[in-house]
Amino acid sequence: MSEILDRFKTIIEEKPDSTGKHIKVGIIGTGWIAEEHIRCYKKFDDVEVVALADLIPGKAEKFAKDHDVKNVRFYSSGAELIDNEPDIDAVSICTYNRQHAPCAIYALEHGVNVLLEKPMCVTLEEAEEIVRAEKKSGRILSIGFQPRCDNNMKMIKKIVRSGELGKVYYIQTGGGRRRGIPTPYGTSFIDDKTAGLGALADIGCYSLDMVLNAVGYPKPLTVSGYTSDIFGKRPSYYPGHPEYADVFSVDDFAAAFIRLEGGITLDFRISWAMNMDTAGDTLILGDKAGLRIPSTECWNGSIGGPMTIYHEVAGEQVETKIPIQDNDMDNFEAKIRSFVDAVENDLPAPVPSSEIIINQAIIDGIAKSAKAGKEIEINIPEI
Ligand SMILES: NC(=O)c1ccc[n+]([C@@H]2O[C@H](COP(=O)([O-])OP(=O)(O)OC[C@H]3O[C@@H](n4cnc5c(N)ncnc54)[C@H](O)[C@@H]3O)[C@@H](O)[C@H]2O)c1
Repeated sequence: MSEILDRFKTIIEEKPDSTGKHIKVGIIGTGWIAEEHIRCYKKFDDVEVVALADLIPGKAEKFAKDHDVKNVRFYSSGAELIDNEPDIDAVSICTYNRQHAPCAIYALEHGVNVLLEKPMCVTLEEAEEIVRAEKKSGRILSIGFQPRCDNNMKMIKKIVRSGELGKVYYIQTGGGRRRGIPTPYGTSFIDDKTAGLGALADIGCYSLDMVLNAVGYPKPLTVSGYTSDIFGKRPSYYPGHPEYADVFSVDDFAAAFIRLEGGITLDFRISWAMNMDTAGDTLILGDKAGLRIPSTECWNGSIGGPMTIYHEVAGEQVETKIPIQDNDMDNFEAKIRSFVDAVENDLPAPVPSSEIIINQAIIDGIAKSAKAGKEIEINIPEI
């Protein structure tokens, strides 16, 4: 057993050497997640944040003041920023989901590298347009999945790729919050006009990435999806803001059964609110062994405790606990550093669109199947 533990003890990756390059960055959308972007960019001596944009008058200016960002120019939209900053190297797109596609496409069409927040966008059609713009531009597009930088997530991939589980044939994934509709900063996550989708895309994208990244992102074939909005539509859910119930126009729970290429079936569920503590652990079943990844009560893409491999040793059924991995950099910082490294060194995107378009296709398929009330086929065109 200790031999197995030794094999899964640490994740060591080479980091690119400094090139001495310096890049100019803009941030589009100065809401909550932009705070993480600015915090990280400010730590890097080779990055200068030169421009901020937000649709809400005065918001970008206040953001600069709150985060002590000096010598920046302010704009009232992502497009205005791109039009007026010809020397900019990259943008962080931190807008609500409905503005991901227009802002990313505009930036790429103008030759700007893009770090696009998750989820990639709202529909598969939008994802296709983004990838077309990326391919045409030859610029880097990376999607903001910071859990990818977590050594525990890397360990899941390492275990699956090691062959320890054998052939993977079934995956159960998802996570849940008992009560956790994200409204602390207003209604941008619950209004279809801004968010487009609810829990399904907001945190479902993490659950999908956790397992699909590990198994190599096989393409989806069919999906049978279900979504509901039971809690989001209740005025009593929002003490002090009963009016939010009228705004709520997305899902707060989703479940789906997905067939993937390579004979893998994927059982998925996700929740912002439900009468349960968790929608269950993530399970990856292979013909040699199975992996259990404990879910957290407040799912945001992290793991809830040490993972366990269920396997046989000398004909006996045994369980091996995988120690929790430490990280030497926080995940947000690692995500933004890896994007900056890619731009400076012309490296491949850390979280490439070729993978995340599959994540988006599944999310889109679940939403469309739920609406149609039946299983549907998923087709992702070659771009
Ligand atoms: N990676 C993570 O852990 C994480 C965490 C939270 C949110 N997010 C993602 O980040 C995105 C933003 O979330 P948030 O909580 O910051 O939302 P938010 O509503 O607080 O902020 C979004 C801001 O973008 C601005 N905006 C929208 N369209 C714009 C445009 N075209 N040009 C300029 N500004 C524009 C809005 O006015 C708003 O101020 C969402 O897609 C969300 O899923 C990621």
